[in-house]
Amino acid sequence: MLKVDNINVYYGKIHALKDISFEVNDGEIVALIGANGAGKTTTLKTISGMLRSKTGDIRFMNESIAQTESYKLISKGIAHVPEGRRIFLQMSVLENLEMGAYIHPEYLKEGLEDVFNRFPRLKHRINQTAGTLSGGEQQMLAIGRALMSKPKLLMMDEPSMGLAPILVGQIFDIIE
Ligand SMILES: Nc1ncnc2c1ncn2[C@@H]1O[C@H](COP(=O)(O)OP(=O)(O)OP(=O)(O)O)[C@@H](O)[C@H]1O
Ligand SMILES: [Mg+2]
Repeated sequence: MLKVDNINVYYGKIHALKDISFEVNDGEIVALIGANGAGKTTTLKTISGMLRSKTGDIRFMNESIAQTESYKLISKGIAHVPEGRRIFLQMSVLENLEMGAYIHPEYLKEGLEDVFNRFPRLKHRINQTAGTLSGGEQQMLAIGRALMSKPKLLMMDEPSMGLAPILVGQIFDIIE
């Protein structure tokens, strides 16, 4: 499904990713593990078109996406839950989820049902301002917003960061 082939990414002179290659197959859960600063976030940002590799190629469903703009990748089926959640803090829970569905407005009703089944806590807080949610609730919202785009490939950066152990277990169950 995804083939990352020999990418090298720089921040100015800093060589952050050196010759990275890996594949993700349909139905597979793949974890990138590495020390702080190893380049995990950089890898995900490069796949979602926020950074560019100087070498190699990135292919998604047999098509090169190495030069594709981020906003087009979401229509192709790649969703990214960024490090630090990056939900829209001033918007309500519902508005955040609606934003996630902007490429599939016809899916809005079904998508909301699906997200609320997975995360009942979000349903109870549907009109709450996202910035006032707890950390765990914000993570649920970030994942829910990504699911609203009906992704084929869901990339999550540090999905368990800052969560209590019970919530980490719930998030990992949902990932599975
Ligand atoms: N915008 C930037 N400008 C310069 N250097 C950067 C920038 N973003 C990241 N880096 C550097 O690139 C390297 C990889 O960072 P990255 O954020 O990808 O690591 P990570 O594996 O996600 O780490 P963490 O586990 O702490 O989230 C680090 O050395 C970091 O300092
Ligand atoms: Mg990171």
